[in-house]
Amino acid sequence: MSMTYVYKFNINMNTLVTHLARVTLNRARGAPVFKVILSTLPPQPVIPSKKPFKVELSAGKRYSWCSCGLSEKQPFCDGSHKTQGSRLLPLRFVQEEDATVWLCGCKHTNKPPFCDGTHKQNFIVSASLHQHPES
Ligand code: FES
Repeated sequence: MSMTYVYKFNINMNTLVTHLARVTLNRARGAPVFKVILSTLPPQPVIPSKKPFKVELSAGKRYSWCSCGLSEKQPFCDGSHKTQGSRLLPLRFVQEEDATVWLCGCKHTNKPPFCDGTHKQNFIVSASLHQHPES
């Protein structure tokens, strides 16, 4: 048996998308109970590295730079933002010419995907590195 539930929320959709922290569905005494938790803070990446990654990029090739920090294939996306529920999406770009570049590893650069030296600031230097669950 399938059932459709319609709920009305008095909330702006942009607010919901940018501040949605968690939605859980529980069944209590046969009735579904939704718990919607909103966050007032913008999503923050974890820090997989406190140094940039030196990478050789090829002209015309598409790249996806990990912006959430959860990927195990740093500095590139491996889809972990989907499986681990991050609201930060990868930055996709096409490289125009062959080049060796420094891609941000701390995920706090102001010039994504490139390192801008932000990793030298105290809030990164004193922060904890993200540890993957298996490591
Ligand atoms: S590694 Fe992020 S700004 Fe340098």
